[in-house]
Amino acid sequence: NNPPWPAYRGYHEYSFAYATMGQRLPTILGKAIEDVVVTLNQEYDEERIVDLVHCIERMEGLMKELQEQAKLRPIIDDGEADVALWNKLIAKYFHGKTFMNAPWLFAEAYKYRRLQECFSVSKYWKSYDVFFRQKCDTFSRSHDAVFELSMRFAEPFKLKDGLSPAEKLEAERLMFLELTQICLWGNSTDLSLLINMTEEQIRSLQSTGGENLAATEKNILGNHMQRLWETVVSLRQNTGGRIDFVLDNAGFELYCDCVYADFLIQSGLAKEIRFHGKRYPWFVSDVTKKDWEWLLNSMVYGHLFPKASDEEKESLRRLGQRWKQYEKEGKWIYEQHPFWCTGFTFWELHNEAPDLFLHLSRSDLVIFKGDLNHRKLTYDCAAPPSTEFEIAIGPMASAAGAPRVCSLRTIKSDVVVGLGPEGDELAEKLDKEEPGWKISGKYAVVLLSEGRPG
Ligand code: F6P
Ligand code: MG
Repeated sequence: NNPPWPAYRGYHEYSFAYATMGQRLPTILGKAIEDVVVTLNQEYDEERIVDLVHCIERMEGLMKELQEQAKLRPIIDDGEADVALWNKLIAKYFHGKTFMNAPWLFAEAYKYRRLQECFSVSKYWKSYDVFFRQKCDTFSRSHDAVFELSMRFAEPFKLKDGLSPAEKLEAERLMFLELTQICLWGNSTDLSLLINMTEEQIRSLQSTGGENLAATEKNILGNHMQRLWETVVSLRQNTGGRIDFVLDNAGFELYCDCVYADFLIQSGLAKEIRFHGKRYPWFVSDVTKKDWEWLLNSMVYGHLFPKASDEEKESLRRLGQRWKQYEKEGKWIYEQHPFWCTGFTFWELHNEAPDLFLHLSRSDLVIFKGDLNHRKLTYDCAAPPSTEFEIAIGPMASAAGAPRVCSLRTIKSDVVVGLGPEGDELAEKLDKEEPGWKISGKYAVVLLSEGRPG
């Protein structure tokens, strides 16, 4: 049940695993400690202060383990729904391994689970999110792109009068392709890579204008967007399908996902959307239930954008209200299965979380957002870039009941597949001409697998 290619590991110096495990994770943890110190300095109740000091001590202990290459220990039973899954995984595959010699995907996920444990064993701080301030902050600093989208999409989607059926379909196709790209490139601004971005840098990454989209389509190296369109149109012929989003990052990316999901509902391409988020803080910027609520509530009630015009603020409010209404009507459903916060890849999903697999198999299309989900789909291993997506995702394409799967991912780590028969040569050329191309987020893939009926 494993792919024939080796998984990346922290000691692979040629891979992004090496910089991540050696430098990026300690930096992220250091910043997390700074955040807790800010909270500590604002607290006045002694019992809560002492409880939080212990959380900091546990984080410092974790930092030491990370830097001194300690052996990975089991997770303490802190009442989280995923403890058994984690400890099974550790006992079965990673007993005696360290942060550096365990597979990168697992070791990195394990760090976020251990960070959660620092808080989950406390009395008062179980649901504390060390990344919450950063997540909110980046959204508030995305002023231009946020209003560019809200001003365009607050008004319900409407086709021009007098179009023939073929012209209508073409207009919808173009809108679909544009919004797919908006949803895709929304993924290039995750916080784990872009901790200290300036507003200017955010702006250039988030530019959502039409001409820009034509240029960026060239950077989609494996591109199944047209097939994706044909798929959703066929769903509409069957009165609209169920589409699932396995979410990635909070803030601006989530906002783009919702703009896309809004269009899917309004155009009748989908009649129900299920959003899958994380149960606790994960890979810095991933969406939790709190981030989901924060986004919708800030759009409707917030004062995040002091420089915005009244018209702009109103457009954001209207969008937020419509999205809340979808939730009330059951057209949008937010879910959080424990499996998403484990170190398992999705090659193991059907065995380790059969209930979730069955649930997803009832969907007409499962969209996986972002880099980490892509790594999990592909086992984060050194598959050649020409490998077909269906092969690279193993049982998620071939197991009985495998759903139709689409990966919308800007490339931010080593594994790259689905580039077509000439893919290996293309990747070699990019390796020579643009050495950082696999981590810059400049390139992307939109890949589709049809799944297999159960
Ligand atoms: O730390 C590396 C990583 O896991 C990469 O996969 C990616 O650079 C980032 O973290 C998470 O990206 P995303 O939010 O798109 O999953
Ligand atoms: Mg993420």
